[in-house]
Amino acid sequence: MKGVILAGGTGSRLRPITHTGPKQLVPIANKPVIEYAIDDLRESGISEIGIILGDKGRDTIQAHLGDGTEFGVDITYIVQGAPLGLAHAVGCAREFVADDPFVVYLGDDLMRDGIGDLIDDFDPEQYAAGIGLQEVDEPSRYGIVDVDEETGDIVDLIEKPDDPPSNFALIGVYVFTPAIFDQIERIEPSWRGELEITDAIQGLLEDGNRVQSHIVHGWWKDTGKPSDVLHANRLVLDEIQSDVRGTIEDEDTVTGRIELGENSVIKQGAVIRGPVSIGESTIIGSDAYVGPFTSIGDDSFVDNVHIEASVAMGKNEIAADRKIVDSLLGYDATVTSKERRRPEGDKLVVGENSSLEI
Ligand code: TTP
Repeated sequence: MKGVILAGGTGSRLRPITHTGPKQLVPIANKPVIEYAIDDLRESGISEIGIILGDKGRDTIQAHLGDGTEFGVDITYIVQGAPLGLAHAVGCAREFVADDPFVVYLGDDLMRDGIGDLIDDFDPEQYAAGIGLQEVDEPSRYGIVDVDEETGDIVDLIEKPDDPPSNFALIGVYVFTPAIFDQIERIEPSWRGELEITDAIQGLLEDGNRVQSHIVHGWWKDTGKPSDVLHANRLVLDEIQSDVRGTIEDEDTVTGRIELGENSVIKQGAVIRGPVSIGESTIIGSDAYVGPFTSIGDDSFVDNVHIEASVAMGKNEIAADRKIVDSLLGYDATVTSKERRRPEGDKLVVGENSSLEI
């Protein structure tokens, strides 16, 4: 079986981060989110992976992942270009997957327990597709399925239903047989101008195909919005093991689980409360407090600040004489103190789509 990772899209909900880079490379616990999908596919025995690229960040993704050797897989890049919808993105993989069943993984998703069960469960002799589902609290906000209780077959799919037939939502992981491609060719764009994968699956059902439901039990998280990135970071850090490759000058003030990359230093006096992930060549100064569920990327400098439950993507200078919480800092972003600057006051250059709470 081959794998297809969707890494196009607009990423509008993650602006301004996505003004300068693709959301699939946003780090979660210091690992780009798309690498979690690659790891899951490889661990399920899938080594041939097609990555669908949009216009945005196409070169950056290719430069980062290369031919996949570093990740133990073989990557083929497929250009979708404009984000015309998930079904359109899947349709671009037709030539790549040829006659075999294949798995589709959204490139901004993370799943705690991977996709091994979904693949093992799927029987291409009986089913045209298998859909990963999870129970949700507010079904009217999701794409919801109606499932035949006896067979476990999906009998209907409804986008954001007023009267949900169940609480089972599509989470964005699928196994398809090539039968999906003819459906994708037939469907029309939805009201939002996209070719919807739910419409293509509905087409499979209408043509009398069976579609299998598969309930995913471990947590699943998409990283479409800044708050989702922070939440995903928290979920991953919650389960890390300590791995210290850099230098901790005074162990007494460092508690909890911590990942510390090569050439990084936690100076004497700095207080670290794990779980925390710190990348390579980063300095945590003696007046810093780094609290739980924080990831600081490579080549950064953190001092005179209290930071927690936040993600700093890398090359950051954070020295703000403040308490920074629940924050997402893009690459090369700087947060410093204005205390000793004259004239006093907040001095801002704020880009379009930014959001500041001061
Ligand atoms: P979404 O998060 O649903 O869409 P988006 O990336 O356009 O984001 P936003 O709504 O914030 O503008 O996409 C889920 C995944 O699928 C993501 O990894 C991007 C990918 N994708 C494609 O590859 N091609 C597409 O045409 C679309 C819509 C998404």
